[in-house]
Amino acid sequence: MPRKPLIAANWKMYKNPTQTLAFFQEFLPMVAGHTRDEIVVCPPYIDLYVAIAEVKGSLVAVGAQDLHWEKEGAYTGEICPGMLLDIGCTHVIIGHSERRQYFGETDDIVNFKLKAALEAGLTPIVCVGEVLEEREAGLTEDVLRRQCLRAFHAISAKKAAKLIVAYEPVWAIGTGKTATPQLASEAHSLIRGEAAKAFSPVFSDNLRILYGGSVKPENVKGLMAETEIDGALVGGASLDPKSFAAIVKY
Ligand code: 13P
Repeated sequence: MPRKPLIAANWKMYKNPTQTLAFFQEFLPMVAGHTRDEIVVCPPYIDLYVAIAEVKGSLVAVGAQDLHWEKEGAYTGEICPGMLLDIGCTHVIIGHSERRQYFGETDDIVNFKLKAALEAGLTPIVCVGEVLEEREAGLTEDVLRRQCLRAFHAISAKKAAKLIVAYEPVWAIGTGKTATPQLASEAHSLIRGEAAKAFSPVFSDNLRILYGGSVKPENVKGLMAETEIDGALVGGASLDPKSFAAIVKY
């Protein structure tokens, strides 16, 4: 069965609830009836409620950008899986490079969060990717292998059924430098190989691997033409409804 493409927006720390409302009022009519790809928008926590109310009755899903791995507890400032589910969130980004880089998120934390998301029934989008120094030192494969191995640790194929992975080379994020479709495709194959080892070959055949890093309306078609690339995780270009709709309709 072919893998259904998924185009996801990661708004990072942009847009307040008023701007979120305005985005969806413009965006939803532009993608009405679009069924070829799954569409997910991941706004900041504070916008989730408004976003979920707006997408009701549409084909667009809403995800969070992070979560805590405990069910509840004294963790000031954190949000747990049950809270996300209760407001109608279906997806969650885990281990984004900005969380790893600026908030000390380790491979082990990514693993805890992935287990918690799967346990709760959320669809996790786990991000992996090398930084520029690692690529230049020829360490890309080692880094991707380690990140996958540690993220997938002690999770069964059955539990991981909803898993989605995003390959985001850190040097391509917000820089305007996109990985070439071929380079992205090679990284995706490697990730798929790791998923085959951690879970099973059948699992990895069905696993959707998104590409992220300076995806724009102008370069999305070339990326999506690769059979290894099952979708995109879009930052900057997802903030404008017209540009994100153009990406969705590549
Ligand atoms: P940009 O599309 O702004 O490069 O961001 C990519 C990203 O980090 C998505 O998660």
